[in-house]
Amino acid sequence: MNHSRTIAFGILGLLAFSLAAVSCEPDTPGTDCTDCTTDDRITATYDPKPYAFNLPSWFPAPIILPDNPLTVDGVELGRHLFYDPILSVDSTLACASCHRQEKSFANDRPVNTGVLGLPGKRNAMALINLAYNPRGFFWDGRAASPEEIAFVTIEDHLENNDTWDNVERKLRKHKSYPQLFRKAFGIERTSEITRDLASKAIGQFVRTLVSAQARYDRVLWARQGFPTDSEQRGISLFFIEDDQTVEHPGCSHCHFNPFFSDHNFRNNGLDSAATLDQFPDLGRGAISKNQYDNGRFKVPSLRNVELTAPYMHDGRFKTLEEVLNHYSSGGHPAANVDPNILKFTLTDQDKADLIAFLKMLTDTAFVNNPAFGKPL
Ligand code: HEC
Ligand code: HEC
Repeated sequence: MNHSRTIAFGILGLLAFSLAAVSCEPDTPGTDCTDCTTDDRITATYDPKPYAFNLPSWFPAPIILPDNPLTVDGVELGRHLFYDPILSVDSTLACASCHRQEKSFANDRPVNTGVLGLPGKRNAMALINLAYNPRGFFWDGRAASPEEIAFVTIEDHLENNDTWDNVERKLRKHKSYPQLFRKAFGIERTSEITRDLASKAIGQFVRTLVSAQARYDRVLWARQGFPTDSEQRGISLFFIEDDQTVEHPGCSHCHFNPFFSDHNFRNNGLDSAATLDQFPDLGRGAISKNQYDNGRFKVPSLRNVELTAPYMHDGRFKTLEEVLNHYSSGGHPAANVDPNILKFTLTDQDKADLIAFLKMLTDTAFVNNPAFGKPL
């Protein structure tokens, strides 16, 4: 009894000594503060300012979660976390490793390795205008919000749910994160740094990734300049006009203004399936458990599509030409192929014109915006 009490006191004494001896000030910013405890008081000033979206008149108000309003400092924290491999178990992988700004936050691999709880069979999605998606994220819509994606992609990585515990520990002991979390959320102690707040900050950052300044926007909405003849023909081929019925590509049935997606799940005829259970990837159906959703996938935005090759949920097409050949062939048969996927004639000139139009959706300001880039 006495003996074990002595040992306990000895340990306590040692602990007290080491706590008193710790100085939480490594001199290089951003390096790990390995000696810090995970419960220190944070002194930075908390002065939250709402984040102001810079939106043109042709864009509606973005969707923001009631429990996660955007602040300048919240977005800034999210940006740091997005680019920081501290979020992965072995500190090698950041969100930005797969989501690259110069590729509209997609990447050029057909599919991504199945790390961070992501299926290895899917093409990384561009992160663009996420704040306008009212229904379901990921190709199959299984996530309700970017905040949830941030939470889950990190959490799913280890079976025993140890990941977030480790990440929280690393963030609490970090030289600069405690201040960034306090500025963003007003917390007072490092122990209040949680997975929930980290996910919220990342959600705030990715909601700011708005693209509305492509050449298409400037010419068609802001009336700055004119489309070339080829672009104009491409526009006519892409958008349905009232008097056009037969033999029309009909792209804008599903990809329409201003986001070039209807945010729905559809089968655009990529795979033949004799029965609805025979798709190689069940897509939406695996989530909704509705057989008619099998083989349906999110209609992706076509903004910046020039930069996001390869294409489709499995990255099967390398070029926009291949995509157009697929659509003009009328696609492959399956019971739930969307009625707007129909064979049409596509001359070389039509192809060039449609591609000229699709390239008008490239937003160079977006991919070069320093506010979306890696923090210095
Ligand atoms: C290993 C590569 C990889 C990493 C790392 C990664 N992602 Fe992704 N991301 C993907 C893939 C692949 C998809 C599509 C997955 C699917 O549909 O099943 C995706 C989809 C998304 C989407 C859905 C977009 C939409 O329009 O529905 C969001 C949001 C997202 N990722 C955010 C993040 C964030 C935040 C992080 C960091 C916490 C992250 N990703 C890390 C590969 C990655
Ligand atoms: C019936 C709705 C529908 C129509 C009509 C349609 N699409 Fe799509 N589009 C989709 C869906 C759904 C996907 C994603 C399919 C998948 O990956 O499984 C997609 C994907 C794409 C992609 C790939 C984007 C990426 O990031 O991977 C491009 C490019 C594209 N469509 C262009 C077009 C063009 C051009 C037309 C007209 C010729 C067109 N679409 C007509 C529904 C449609």
